[in-house]
Amino acid sequence: SQDVQADLKHVLYTKEQIQTRVAELAAQIDADYQGRDVLLVGVLKGAVMIMADLSRALHSHVTMDWMAVSSYGSGTQSSGVVRILKDLETDLMGKHVLIVEDIIDSGLTLSWLRANLMSRGPASVEICTLLRKPAAAKVEIDVKYVGYEIPNEFVVGYGLDFAERYRNLDFIGTLAPHVYE
Ligand code: PRP
Ligand code: MN
Ligand code: MG
Repeated sequence: SQDVQADLKHVLYTKEQIQTRVAELAAQIDADYQGRDVLLVGVLKGAVMIMADLSRALHSHVTMDWMAVSSYGSGTQSSGVVRILKDLETDLMGKHVLIVEDIIDSGLTLSWLRANLMSRGPASVEICTLLRKPAAAKVEIDVKYVGYEIPNEFVVGYGLDFAERYRNLDFIGTLAPHVYE
């Protein structure tokens, strides 16, 4: 269908709900870092929206860098294979790193990424994710900042794609089964 709305089952979080939750996460992060500079590491492409909104809601000094890793391809299942498509340009030595993600699904991407960044000599590495699916977890990861825990349904919007579509929605919704079945 040419109509995006017809591909959606229902709205999970509205634009307003997301903005409110992101502001709460930012306040928590500001309080925890207490004026220390933070390097936000956004994971392309899904994290672009949360990175843009979270960074603007923070009062701490931040710098931003980006990594592109891939675990999904164009399907709905995690392959468990993580490869670096684009690496950071920043030296992590002594830095306080906050990885910014849109979603933790199996956890395979972040568990690999955290270990990879930890090996580069940072002062700390923490994780902020807007969404987490506890029922889909294949590995345990300690995540300091979580926006919402969601059921194991396929969600799109606010950076999250299906076959590269729907990232531009300003809300998060579930995809109608006819789209991926
Ligand atoms: C998605 C999502 C996370 C990852 C989570 O990215 O943005 O980065 O999968 O899955 P996991 O917890 O099972 O590893 P994807 O690989 O689809 O790339 P994208 O961000 O470019 O959409
Ligand atoms: Mn991603
Ligand atoms: Mg994706």
